[in-house]
Amino acid sequence: MKSFRFPLVASFVLGLAPLVPALAQNTSLHTRINKLAGETEQSVIACRRDLHEHPELGNQETRTAAMVAAQLQKLGIEVQTGVARTGVVGILRGGKPGPVVALRADMDALPVTEATDLPFASKVTSTYNGQKVGVMHACGHDTHVAMLLGAAEVLSKVRKDLPGTVKFIFQPAEEGSLPGEEGGARLMVKEGVLTNPAVDAIFGVHINAQTEVGTLKYRPEGTMASSDVFKIVVKGKSAHGAYPWLSIDPVVTAAQIITGLQTIISRQTELTQDAAVITVGMVHGGVRNNIIPEQVELTGTIRTLSKDTQQKIWAAVRRTATNIAESAGATAEVEIENYAPVTFNNPRLMEQMLPSLRLAAGPEHVVLQKAVTGAEDFAFYQEKIPGLFVFVGGMPKGKKPSDTAPHHTPGFFIDESGLTLGVKTLATLAADYLTLKK
Ligand code: NI
Repeated sequence: MKSFRFPLVASFVLGLAPLVPALAQNTSLHTRINKLAGETEQSVIACRRDLHEHPELGNQETRTAAMVAAQLQKLGIEVQTGVARTGVVGILRGGKPGPVVALRADMDALPVTEATDLPFASKVTSTYNGQKVGVMHACGHDTHVAMLLGAAEVLSKVRKDLPGTVKFIFQPAEEGSLPGEEGGARLMVKEGVLTNPAVDAIFGVHINAQTEVGTLKYRPEGTMASSDVFKIVVKGKSAHGAYPWLSIDPVVTAAQIITGLQTIISRQTELTQDAAVITVGMVHGGVRNNIIPEQVELTGTIRTLSKDTQQKIWAAVRRTATNIAESAGATAEVEIENYAPVTFNNPRLMEQMLPSLRLAAGPEHVVLQKAVTGAEDFAFYQEKIPGLFVFVGGMPKGKKPSDTAPHHTPGFFIDESGLTLGVKTLATLAADYLTLKK
């Protein structure tokens, strides 16, 4: 254990060596950022409430985008609109030359009907996939927009002391686009949001309803999982249910494949390395109790926390499905599609920026967290450039996580007193990164 730990500690100290003097130079800037962030509290909360009351589904965030663009313009920030449909990008050029850092917020709400009794609760309805739905900011993206606008205000006020450029990315459709529709981070990257000027590093935060206000949670490397959708079509031969020997039964074969897929996780995946999940969420086949059908379709999701594990599991899913089918005389066609890569926090960047997180929240409030098997499309930026994704507490102090409503549910609630820390964290990360890199 000791011999394993030593190199870790040593590399951490080495990583810090060039960083301490640079951060020390930033003391007066930090003091100003803290003060300015505190001063944005009321306007950030007001902005959040306005967005909360007027949520918009992915790729439809036109009101939100107009509000964001107007606010950035008011701050004297260069604005691009219509990026990846409804996205808005702001560019703040500092008073001194230097690198380019991006800060990102997502803007979309979810097809969830709000069930809180907040005075600014959403009453908005819309149509989603042909169904009438309520619309709610049930993942806190309203707070992300408000916090990033707060950080833009703070950074615009210290502009002349910033050695470099800050790009503010307000992204649509993080929760996914409708079938056949492009959107989100993938489309923003495709449309060149990380170029012109080229971005050196990117930071993003996510509010968390199960983390106490005042706390930041982070994890180096795989932080949120990659999300892949798989579909397996098992083809056999139909027969009367009374004469199974005349069939090649795709139902029994599919059942064996479902069990086989679980042994990929339990027997073939090194779970001490990182966690992984295979879930079969849909099984479709057959029309009647006494007819063995021709085929059965299995659809599910794969979650992994490293590219290496992801590739091994993809290969194992194909091998398991096709060979189990073959053993029954059936066939299996396997399709796997990646929806989002691993949200991978660059370990070197994490090490460099950890002092900034500790400065923003206080060292005792910066907590190493477990990996999350949910996915986040921030990963598409991190595929191209080093980036960090960090969680900000939004749970009332003293409350138990088990007594709070999860994200994406009608009772989802955020304690707004946690927002100033988000503003401070974003502004501090940007200012420190520019200072360290210049
Ligand atoms: Ni979210």
